[in-house]
Amino acid sequence: MSVRETWATRIGFILVATGSAVGLGNIWRFPFLTAESGGAAFLIAYLILIVSVGLPLILAEFVIGRRTKRNVVGAFDELGRSNWKIVGGIGALAGFVILSYYSVVGGWVIQYIIASITGAYTSDPAAYFETASVGTNAVVFDALFMGFVAGIVALGIRNGLERAAKFMVPSVVVLLIVLSVYGATLDGSGAGYAFYLSPDPATLVSDAIGLLPDAAGQAFFTLSLGMGVMITYASYLGEDRSLLNDSLLILVVDTFIALLAGLAIFPFLFAEGIDPGTGGPGTVFVALGTAFAELPAGQLVGTVFYIALFMAALTSAFSILEVIVAYVTETFGFERKPATVGIAGVIFLIGIPTALDINVLNAYDVLANQVLLIGGGLLLAIFVGWFFAGEALEEFTTGSDGLEGLGTVWIWLLRIPITVLLLYVLYNGVLATTEAVTAVL
Ligand code: PHE
Repeated sequence: MSVRETWATRIGFILVATGSAVGLGNIWRFPFLTAESGGAAFLIAYLILIVSVGLPLILAEFVIGRRTKRNVVGAFDELGRSNWKIVGGIGALAGFVILSYYSVVGGWVIQYIIASITGAYTSDPAAYFETASVGTNAVVFDALFMGFVAGIVALGIRNGLERAAKFMVPSVVVLLIVLSVYGATLDGSGAGYAFYLSPDPATLVSDAIGLLPDAAGQAFFTLSLGMGVMITYASYLGEDRSLLNDSLLILVVDTFIALLAGLAIFPFLFAEGIDPGTGGPGTVFVALGTAFAELPAGQLVGTVFYIALFMAALTSAFSILEVIVAYVTETFGFERKPATVGIAGVIFLIGIPTALDINVLNAYDVLANQVLLIGGGLLLAIFVGWFFAGEALEEFTTGSDGLEGLGTVWIWLLRIPITVLLLYVLYNGVLATTEAVTAVL
């Protein structure tokens, strides 16, 4: 087998990991979920979970990856815990499911970049979404998006992933800042912010507690947790610096982008008096399309917005493909390029039903986020908390001297509270999946 690559630079690693985290989940899912689920109360629930569940689990994935320097399945062999390979198996399966529909939405985004330039959705945004999102167009642009993803992964982690992330992640930040500044200048921006984050002080705390399960699903999805992205990425780390610092940085940037996206989007909608609707995959595109059709310089603003969304989606999508490619090349000895093309092709085929029926897309989404990622995260918490704690602590303190006490808190969080919470979330997820599948049948 060829020599395993490593990241060229530390910042490169931080950017690829941040690029995986920052994606459609931040710009498309988070703002609407927050607005619909109680604004500030949801944000509080989310922040609590990001720190108490997200951070411990990123660290769990990082220590496994850096210690074993293997892919998501091979890592457990390397540790001599082959029974736990099921965790990697769930991760790879989640990867197939998520990327198959994520790339369909990525294909919509490409169509919206083109349509913003040509003005194709301006006369009837709802009708435009219908033709773009389902059927031939959806399939064709899904294939195109997959082509970009596979092209980058085929180039390898330094020349492909790291290079792309170094350019794209900072670009997304800059573009969103520009958009939110533009949004702030619009009449109606105040109403937009109020809709987004307005707290109801009387019920803030009790609301936040009720929202924990929903917020947990979002926390997993947005941080790319539970499927081994962070295991795979950390496996390409050569040196031993503080994993805690890197994890914190990723959390902060990811949350910042999610907030920023909402600060950009809601003023657009409120300036034009558009009802943000009930969320869901379509409303976002339709509502924003309506706003871009009316706003001053709307076509330009729309083009910039969808380009940012495209780059954010791409850096997330290639992290998913990388998990599977790393597994297949290392386990079966295939070359990277043909393996990448083959796997991308299979994922494309699995995604076709989601490009033909939006209910199927929704069912994939619920299954992946609420069952597979949560299930993977649950097993990881149990594994690291109960079966790997000693080595995990040793790996955690490498590069983080003096933080042994914090390490112990980390292990105990994984052992009990996180495990209990994820069991509860998983139970809800199974019910939600059953419902989503019934809606298709
Ligand atoms: N974190 C990505 C987003 O917010 C989605 C993702 C999930 C990426 C799981 C990789 C793994 O869009």
